[in-house]
Amino acid sequence: MNSKKNILVIGGCGYIGSHMVKCLLTAGHEVVVLDDLSAGFADSLLGGKLIVGDCGDRELLNQIFSQHKFDGVLHFASYIQVGESVTNPAKYYQNNVAKTLTLLETMKDHNLKTLIFSSTAAVFGEPDYSPIDEQHPRVPINPYGMSKNMVEAMLQDFDHAYDFRSVALRYFNAAGADAEARIGERHQPETHLIPLALQAVLGKRPALKVFGRDYETPDGTCIRDYIHIDDLSTAHLLALEYLWNGGETAAFNLGNGAGFSVQEVLDAVEKVAGKPVPIENTERRAGDPARLVADSSLAKKTLAWQPQYPDLSTIVQHAWQWEQKRPTC
Ligand code: UFG
Repeated sequence: MNSKKNILVIGGCGYIGSHMVKCLLTAGHEVVVLDDLSAGFADSLLGGKLIVGDCGDRELLNQIFSQHKFDGVLHFASYIQVGESVTNPAKYYQNNVAKTLTLLETMKDHNLKTLIFSSTAAVFGEPDYSPIDEQHPRVPINPYGMSKNMVEAMLQDFDHAYDFRSVALRYFNAAGADAEARIGERHQPETHLIPLALQAVLGKRPALKVFGRDYETPDGTCIRDYIHIDDLSTAHLLALEYLWNGGETAAFNLGNGAGFSVQEVLDAVEKVAGKPVPIENTERRAGDPARLVADSSLAKKTLAWQPQYPDLSTIVQHAWQWEQKRPTC
């Protein structure tokens, strides 16, 4: 698809959002970003126009939708920490659900009915089987996963009632960085395995805590499905094109389909960095399933999506390049 479109990226200053902006600009589209900068950074934007504001501010949304004619909206603005969602669920339901409802309603009011929604593997809860396909029961085990699942339900209802078309993309483990290290993972606080391991190698942290070595996996550590951030972004662009071409409301699981254990990730980090990762073996982290691997065959078939960076070493290599030159926060 070559025609230039006008896209609103909500949460475009965050880790996934900023790589998405890069992808859209590379594809020749016009981008407006709405971000309250509570978790994102303005200097993570490689282009586009930034509006600083709250995605639950109806007045602001009305103003933005009156001033711009968008061909689609990508919504990344959400809180993502599973543990925090358990201790402070109000924050998650307020931000991830209530504000998203305001956004959807305002979009509908302006007859803007094309949305790509950032969902998560956490909607599935403790997996019954692996790899996880779209038919797997959705039984979230924490408020974070529940908040995303509630929005997925709203999107189905908006489709039936208002002909509002959306694609929910359920990410497994987003990882890696821009190959030129211009942007990368920059969470505050950081809770994810790969950046924490790289920071431990660089001495920015004392050690990487390995959360449990007694899982029922070949080496005893948890298995996850790491997907390169640029492959994730490409899937969003293809999902937008799918909707522009008349595709129906859908949800897709996005991963590599290959699981890597925490130990295999640490081995990959040591190989790329050329230095050992200082580690501390600790208890399991509450709520971590032993294995989370995606079956992404539906996304591959429906969207003609093919990950370009399926190997863990490239993902870690790009993350390593970014970690060495990133700003301190
Ligand atoms: N891990 C450690 N030590 C750390 C951090 C992580 O051993 O310091 C382990 C975890 O126990 C897990 C694996 O590394 O087995 C990956 O952990 P991450 O925190 O990097 O990622 P998660 O799989 O926990 O989380 C991801 C997304 C969440 C989403 C979840 C779905 O980042 O947003 O998948 O279950 F909710």
